[in-house]
Amino acid sequence: MTPRFRNDLRWSDVTPRADWLSRRALLAGVGTLAATPALAKIAAEPSAYSTDETPNTLEDISGYNNFYEFGTGKEDPAAYSGGFVTDPWAVTIDGMVDRPGSHDLADVLKGQPMEERIYRLRCVEAWSMVIPWIGFPLSGLLDRVGVQPGAKYVAFETVLRPEEMPGQRSPFIDWPYREGLRLDEAMNPLTILATGLYGEELPNQNGAPIRLVVPWKYGFKSIKSVVRITLTDRQPVTTWQTLQPEEYGFYANVNPEVDHPRWSQATERRIGGGFFAPRIDTVKFNGYGEYVADLYAGQDLAVDY
Ligand code: MTE
Repeated sequence: MTPRFRNDLRWSDVTPRADWLSRRALLAGVGTLAATPALAKIAAEPSAYSTDETPNTLEDISGYNNFYEFGTGKEDPAAYSGGFVTDPWAVTIDGMVDRPGSHDLADVLKGQPMEERIYRLRCVEAWSMVIPWIGFPLSGLLDRVGVQPGAKYVAFETVLRPEEMPGQRSPFIDWPYREGLRLDEAMNPLTILATGLYGEELPNQNGAPIRLVVPWKYGFKSIKSVVRITLTDRQPVTTWQTLQPEEYGFYANVNPEVDHPRWSQATERRIGGGFFAPRIDTVKFNGYGEYVADLYAGQDLAVDY
């Protein structure tokens, strides 16, 4: 990665995790830790759903992003999200639920079991990473608000704040960014709402303060900085499907057998591997088939792409 040059750069932005931890310990020892602003720590249990693949460095994970609200370049989100205000934050949960309402982030998180989930992330652009998220199953939150029997889908929206998100001043997307899942996908234990990574609160560029993570689907389904969750009986309108329906479908399951119209999905480039690293084979459902393949029994995934 090309380094970014910002005067508020943290150790965590430029240093692989192991180095970063030891340097922080060193700094703490000489009493200067307070000089380096740090994101709050989040306690979390390890999860049986984690991959044992080596996570990408924090530099990769927070320096190479897609977050079009802050620009279309991979380094734009890190460069332009510094002024994004994520506290206070409220999430509205509405539609076909017994207890609709707007909840302060602390209320959303209350009682939810925080886990570290080390997941592969496969972008539709054919690159991938391994990210140690901190989060909790979306199902726990949906259970708490009471999903009504007729609900079939869950729709999600990112915050609309063009004054803080320069990309939203450009009208090429009908903001806010929207995504959706079928209810059974939303209730699957792999589907989490993440509030952190590498043991700390999410950096703004990764979707602070709360974002969806759906590891068997292309990354664009994992919507960032969520402010609204709506239970509905209709398939939700989603941003990328609206923009280019023949290229980006509602399902967007990672699938090496179904190519994107403009490129192959058979292989991927693991970020951080260096320029000469060989491409790796993409695995159906991003390797999570044992947990999710049943959801699509009887569906033709070339049609439901
Ligand atoms: N969410 C919003 N609101 N806006 C976006 O542009 N990009 C998506 C997804 N969520 C995006 C978004 C895409 S294409 C990917 S690959 C992932 O976020 C990237 O997540 P990461 O930057 O944390 O790796």
